[in-house]
Amino acid sequence: MNELFSVKDKVVAITGGTGVLGSEIGTYLAGQGAKVVIMGRRTEAGEAIVARIKEQGGEAMFLKTDVMDATVVEQNLKDILAAYGRVDALLNAAGGNMPGATVGPDGTFFDLKPEEFERVLSLNLTGTVIPTQVFLKAMVEQKEGCIVNFSSMSAFRPLSRICGYSAAKAGISNFTQFMANEVATKFGEGIRVNAIAPGFFLTEQNRALLTNPDGSYTGRGQDVIRQTPFKRFGKPEELNGTIQYLISDASRFVTGTVAVVDGGFNTFAI
Ligand SMILES: NC(=O)c1ccc[n+]([C@@H]2O[C@H](COP(=O)([O-])OP(=O)(O)OC[C@H]3O[C@@H](n4cnc5c(N)ncnc54)[C@H](O)[C@@H]3O)[C@@H](O)[C@H]2O)c1
Repeated sequence: MNELFSVKDKVVAITGGTGVLGSEIGTYLAGQGAKVVIMGRRTEAGEAIVARIKEQGGEAMFLKTDVMDATVVEQNLKDILAAYGRVDALLNAAGGNMPGATVGPDGTFFDLKPEEFERVLSLNLTGTVIPTQVFLKAMVEQKEGCIVNFSSMSAFRPLSRICGYSAAKAGISNFTQFMANEVATKFGEGIRVNAIAPGFFLTEQNRALLTNPDGSYTGRGQDVIRQTPFKRFGKPEELNGTIQYLISDASRFVTGTVAVVDGGFNTFAI
């Protein structure tokens, strides 16, 4: 068997692990032999994901977290080290948007609520910085580790209306490159920092924006499909291969990249 892409026995912590994408990725990686730590705010949802992984013969644990609170994340790391002795990968998948950080369909920029803009920036960007800072300490001691941040199509060109989230995700792509250089220069090539930029995947965060209650596409949903050469939304499982690549030896000379998984959306001009 080719070991290049192996994640067997790797300890992988996923913030936003109870979310649509995080839970899919965690379940997949556990199926590949990884020890998966589902970190989320919702205990019931997290425990259910862990139970499902265990039923399928995988290894996982749930830890309640808040990516905005360094003390909580530090305790999470302690719990992971106590359980598994190390941490090989951190996937910073926690994120989200708020209405006041966007411009409404008939509104203008004057409607933007700076407090909500600030909260969206903090959750997505600072909520990536804090776990990175905490988990990096263990990775530096081990002299190895992989961090994968969650960027977005809105990082390349801001999506109309999506003001705060786009700014935050652009910040995440930038932070990814900053950290790749920072850790390689200071701590060597064993620690790599990359990002994934998912295209449009139907999740709770964007379902109401992209589909009507009867499942048909909204005008905005139709716009996305028109600009996607594959003519469809992504399926969460279509991120799994790229994540596996980014946290395995297959990408051992790869750091600071933003891997686009979007059915071609980002290539489309006219
Ligand atoms: N779904 C998409 O099409 C898409 C596209 C591009 C990027 N993304 C990004 O991928 C990541 C996962 O998205 P998703 O679609 O699974 O969304 P999701 O809403 O299903 O999952 C996000 C998770 O983050 C958690 N979270 C929110 N605040 C938190 C906090 N303070 N501490 C810990 N956890 C917190 C939420 O509880 C939720 O479980 C996000 O960063 C999102 O911005 C999603």
